[in-house]
Amino acid sequence: MTQSSNAALALLPISAETAKAAAELVQGLDSHALEWLSGYMAGAAHALQPAPLAASAPVSAVPVPAPTEQQITVLYGSQTGNAKRVAERLAAELQACGVRVRLVRADAFHTSDLKKEQFLYIVVSTHSEGDAAQPPDDSRGFFEFLTGRRAPKLPDLSYAVLALGDSSYADFCGIGRRIDERLEALGANRLFERAEADVDIEHVAGPWAREVLRHAQEHLAPRDPARRPTPATGGGVTLLRPTHASWSRERPFSAEVLANQRIVSTGSEKDVRHIELSLAGSGLHYQPGDALGVWPTQAPELTDHILTALGLAGDTEVTQDNERLPLAQWLGQRRELTILTRPFVAAHAERGHHTELQALLQPHAAAELAHLLNSHQLIDLLCQYPTQWDAEALVAALRPLAPRMYSIASSRERVEDEVHITVALVEFEREGGRYWGAGSHYLCNTTEGAHVLVFIEANERFHLPQDTARDVIMIGPGTGVAPFRAFLQQRQAEAAGGRNWLFFGNPHRRSDFLYQTEWLQALKEGVLTRLDVAFSRDQTEKIYVQHRLRERGAQIWEWIEHGAYVYVCGDAEHMAPDVHAALIEIATEHGHKSADNAAAWLNGMLAEGRYARDVY
Ligand SMILES: Cc1cc2nc3c(=O)[nH]c(=O)nc-3n(C[C@H](O)[C@H](O)[C@H](O)COP(=O)(O)OP(=O)(O)OC[C@H]3O[C@@H](n4cnc5c(N)ncnc54)[C@H](O)[C@@H]3O)c2cc1C
Ligand SMILES: Cc1cc2nc3c(=O)[nH]c(=O)nc-3n(C[C@H](O)[C@H](O)[C@H](O)COP(=O)(O)O)c2cc1C
Repeated sequence: MTQSSNAALALLPISAETAKAAAELVQGLDSHALEWLSGYMAGAAHALQPAPLAASAPVSAVPVPAPTEQQITVLYGSQTGNAKRVAERLAAELQACGVRVRLVRADAFHTSDLKKEQFLYIVVSTHSEGDAAQPPDDSRGFFEFLTGRRAPKLPDLSYAVLALGDSSYADFCGIGRRIDERLEALGANRLFERAEADVDIEHVAGPWAREVLRHAQEHLAPRDPARRPTPATGGGVTLLRPTHASWSRERPFSAEVLANQRIVSTGSEKDVRHIELSLAGSGLHYQPGDALGVWPTQAPELTDHILTALGLAGDTEVTQDNERLPLAQWLGQRRELTILTRPFVAAHAERGHHTELQALLQPHAAAELAHLLNSHQLIDLLCQYPTQWDAEALVAALRPLAPRMYSIASSRERVEDEVHITVALVEFEREGGRYWGAGSHYLCNTTEGAHVLVFIEANERFHLPQDTARDVIMIGPGTGVAPFRAFLQQRQAEAAGGRNWLFFGNPHRRSDFLYQTEWLQALKEGVLTRLDVAFSRDQTEKIYVQHRLRERGAQIWEWIEHGAYVYVCGDAEHMAPDVHAALIEIATEHGHKSADNAAAWLNGMLAEGRYARDVY
């Protein structure tokens, strides 16, 4: 070791021996291995840190006080973690450039600070509920304030918006767009055009973030190089790579399947599986309320069908995104085949000169296009509108595969190194053809001993109250019941003093009563205080959980008055809006509030974290 490196060692926050050991460890490694190792080390360090606090109350992601001079605020609104992840990485990269940055979840942002902000970067997703595009639950207050009459003029604010969405929804990135337009209308200075990221988030978020970083480096980072740490990623900054490498979405853990059990009986119209996976050796932690991310593999019969329809050879090598793989592998592991997208339909129509298909892309045909996207798959398009594709162009045009999320149905207090999920198979027949959803088909067909690539997606807003004496009301029809299995296991392990009330629903009691014996046992043991069920098709009139809520309105109101937390999980299209309406009615009838006050009260519960939803 040289004298200068010895001098440098003296400045390090580790002992000389540790530094020497580290130098020996990295000797001879190439840049790829070094990069991996740096991530691995960061992950190991991360694992040693104390677990984050359960965020049942809104928290600022980085506890930095109100904005000060030349400070950037990165504000995010996220329902399922994507916007949060992008914002966290952006904040980390900005910090690495020497910029003063604070990262804030939208519900922790003091709207009174808005006037004091100078640089505000917003990363926000859109989540439709019923027909209407909505902000993520953590951003409702911020969104309402900003779009409301009390929002101040903002001539001193410079801002940029990254909107996250999914182009298969009618109102693509609607919330990000409204925030961006509103800030402009309030007189704020838009630094960059709004970026709208589809499910292939990195494709748009990467360049947007690089622009933000370049601007920050030029205008906000300290001029004195000594005060400016070297950016972690060298010259060309790549934002969307993991900043630490415990297992993550980008670096998933290979979990062994321990069990895959059908939990509906043969008479059921559905196939629902209870799947148990081993996390042994991963160091992965989760809390009840979090989700498991799963990277599926497409069924070989589907990739074969597509290759045959196109007359392409699976072993054709294709290079895309600096990766060279055989076409069959691109289709099987890297591309969406069961979800049709507007950009692909447009590319297919243009390539094949299909005027009928092109007509569907016109604004007046939005409903027909939405129908096509929701009910057809790639193979339908290839068969109905034959078009020549070469392997390279096909891979470039198809949407990159995205992981599927599943609410975790177990508590580590009970299952230790395992994680359990509840998966409903998406499968249907049309015109003699059999179709399925990529993620659910993959999971339902796994066998014991197989391995599945997984990661944990934390959902701070859907955790149990820290105060175990609080009551909880859980509303989870269908697979929406999954997180409540985890909740009950946790409450039992903690010997929580609070009461637990579950509302469950499905078509038939006889065939679809998911985890029936477990609920009955929990009732017997007193862990579950009350269970109300709604089997919609066991009688002539349809009965759903929202009907049961109304019937039990007086007791529900009594529990809420007593401080109960209310959790809703499952269908976003019908169930969540109907349950929301039922809760407002209960507040009107039993809390004697006006309809407006009841709606405002429920929004207040949401902002407070006492009403939490995990809907999909
Ligand atoms: C936070 C979160 C938690 C979740 N938790 C759970 C959970 O606990 N359990 C669970 O099962 N799921 C859960 N989901 C949903 C899950 O992530 C997947 O979306 C679901 O499994 C379907 O994915 P897939 O890959 O099977 O289908 P995809 O491949 O994504 O979609 C299949 C395609 O087929 C179409 N389609 C479906 N049915 C029909 C039909 N009848 N006719 C014509 N077209 C049709 C669809 O429109 C879609 O385009 C959760 C989602 C989120 C965001
Ligand atoms: C239930 C549900 C509804 C959604 N509705 C919309 C929508 O109306 N418009 C849109 O552009 N994206 C919609 N999306 C897609 C999300 O915005 C997209 O997945 C985004 O990456 C999620 O980011 P988040 O994890 O930060 O919430 C929806 C997603 C879900 C699960």
